[in-house]
Amino acid sequence: MEHTIIENLNWRYATKKFDASKKIAKKDLEILKEAVRLSASSYGLQPYQIIMVDNEDLREQIKTAAWNQTQITEASDVLIFANITDVGAKEISNYIENMAAIREIPTTNLAGFENMMNKVMTAFSPEEKEVWSAKQTYIALGTLLSAAADLKIDATPMEGFDRNTVNNILQLTEKGLSATLIVTLGYRHDADTTQYLRKVRKPNEELFITL
Ligand SMILES: Cc1cc2nc3c(=O)[nH]c(=O)nc-3n(C[C@H](O)[C@H](O)[C@H](O)COP(=O)(O)O)c2cc1C
Repeated sequence: MEHTIIENLNWRYATKKFDASKKIAKKDLEILKEAVRLSASSYGLQPYQIIMVDNEDLREQIKTAAWNQTQITEASDVLIFANITDVGAKEISNYIENMAAIREIPTTNLAGFENMMNKVMTAFSPEEKEVWSAKQTYIALGTLLSAAADLKIDATPMEGFDRNTVNNILQLTEKGLSATLIVTLGYRHDADTTQYLRKVRKPNEELFITL
């Protein structure tokens, strides 16, 4: 299956050890941020924020909260994906205003769309709302992983951390956010033996059902 995207996806792997001496060029980081910004999300609401952690002391603290996974201090860049915990009328109205401004249409034209989103959000229990907004961050993660592979930049998606501790370290709860994922980005270390392992994936017959 000769295709650039397949080659890139075979090239990428969840990096266990980064070469701390290699930094991502600013222009490449901007491309990765743009890929995250362009990610699909339900209704287009993007119910999340991404915290870019440069501060070394914060990275040390996060590493401790993430079972001492060394990628957090050795990677070039660390992103924390955090869902908005209580998406509601305010976020929906901001989105509608942004859409009206970008597409140069009156907000009144979007009243039906706005009401529909408000109805959906108010029908959710707090738990359902959390799950829904957290799911959206995983779509952005997927977009980021593919974009990073395309630039031959290594990435590790991580769920292995204590959410409450990371929320406390970054004061996310006060901001109406909750950490869902950590993504470390940079360049693989030669000594990371996982890069040489074969990919383990289900065969098509097990993965796909054709009806
Ligand atoms: C949501 C998510 C969370 C993950 N959490 C961790 C993690 O905390 N630490 C880690 O080293 N790898 C983590 N991984 C990497 C997976 O173990 C890895 O993607 C999987 O084994 C497939 O291997 P590959 O990505 O190298 O092809 C995570 C992956 C995903 C998608």
